[in-house]
Formats: sequence, structure tokens, C-alpha cells
Amino acid sequence: MKIGFLQFNPVFNEPEANMKKLRKMITAESSEYDLLVLPELSNSGYLFSSIEEVKNSAEEIPVGPFCTMLAEIAAQKEVYFVSGVCEKDGKDIYNSSILVQPDGFIHTYRKTHLFNEEKKWFSPGNTGFEVYIISGKFGEVKIGMMICFDWIFPESARTLALKGSQIICHPSNLVLSYCQSAMFTRAVENRVFTITANRTGKERNSENELTFTGESIIVDPKGNYLARAGKDDECIAITEIDPEHANDKDVTPLNNIFEDRRPEMYND
Ligand code: ACM
Repeated sequence: MKIGFLQFNPVFNEPEANMKKLRKMITAESSEYDLLVLPELSNSGYLFSSIEEVKNSAEEIPVGPFCTMLAEIAAQKEVYFVSGVCEKDGKDIYNSSILVQPDGFIHTYRKTHLFNEEKKWFSPGNTGFEVYIISGKFGEVKIGMMICFDWIFPESARTLALKGSQIICHPSNLVLSYCQSAMFTRAVENRVFTITANRTGKERNSENELTFTGESIIVDPKGNYLARAGKDDECIAITEIDPEHANDKDVTPLNNIFEDRRPEMYND
């Protein structure tokens, strides 16, 4: 199975411009993949200054223009996309991730752990962590989604792994320096594949400036980094994996990471 990430520098609060850039990248003949993960908030950019700005970029799932574009390309190419999207649902705005299937169906995950000023704009996610079966010429594979800062709560990846996720898709807009190292642990402690699709570039408003750290990564269940982008690259990276490797939870002949868990000792 060919899995990959797309790393780019979105144009802040210009969904049309981002769609144009992404369409060109994901339809390039040179890119062959079964599952491609795009960054968090790929339609909107990140550093909002007002709720009006957020509403300008937010769209409804599944009928918004960004969702529609991804569904159209997923059908044409018979591929799956996971992407961050600024979502509007009635009066609520969510920092969401969508899984877009080639048959046009879209699943939604809403970010559980909001980071810093995201709390000013977005409602806390209410979907929980779910696992989906995707299928194609690569067979049947179980995937889950978490978004950026969710990584710092080990429960996010753990929940997805306990529910059977073989690949954790992780759209991100990272600004701290830890995650690219920490995902080694998330992959190893759960023995899963992880795909962190980060963004590049800087955004500023009158109060803040943020630099996004790039270096999107794919890590395998034994902690090998299968792909890594540069800090500033706008690129797609693809690697071929056997998702079944995520089914082996034995760290030693006498240690199975799930069977050895002792939840009765974990009460807080
Ligand atoms: C983040 O969660 N976007 C840092």
C-alpha cells in the first residue's frame, strides 16, 4: 500500500487559493498513492484574529467546496484523502479532519485537544476517536485520525490503536519543536504506522507571529522514519508499506503491548 503526506504553505484565509494549489499538487501524474494525508486547516490557514475571519474560511462537511474538490479527485484517482478542514456546522466552528473516500463518502473527526488560541475560535471536538476500514487493491486497512496537538495526549493514539487502527493519520500545523521526535514513541508504544502531515511558512497578525516547523514524517511500528520532508519544502512524499506489520503487538516473545496492559493500575 502506498501512503504519503502532502506538505505546503497555505495562503491565510484564502480557501480558493489553497484549493488551486492543492489540486495541482494532488493531481500531479508523478504522485501515485492510495492514501494521502494533508495538513491541519488546509483550506484556511491558521492564525485567525477574529471570528469573522474564521467564518470566511469555514465550510460545511460534506457539501463545502474543499470537501467537494477532494471527493471529486478521490473518485477520479480511486484514492483516499485525510485532510484538516475549518468546519462550520450551524453556529459552531470546528477544527476538523476529514477522511474522503473514492465513493464520495466523508467521515469527520473534530479535534479533541484544542491548542492555545484555537480555544477562542473552535468548539471542542465531540466526535471522539474512531477507526475506519478503507479498502482497495491494497486490501482492507484500518485507519484513524487525530489532529496536531492531540499527539501530546498519549490517550489519543492509544485509543485509536486499541480500536484497531493500523495507520494513524495526523494532519498538523506544528509550532513547537517536540512532535517530530515524539511520534517515534507514539508509533512504537502502539506499534502502528503514523503519518504526520505538517505545514510550512509563517503567519503573523498584530499580536503574534508563528513559524510552522515542516518536517512532515511517516514512522513505522518499529520507530523507523520512512519519510521526512525538509522544514520549508512544499512536497508530496510517498512510501510503500505493509499495514499488516501493525498487527504484531509483540515487543518480545513474552511482551504483548496490549495484553500486558494493566488498566486497573492506571486510575488517576
Ligand atoms: C496545533 O495543535 N496546531 C499546534
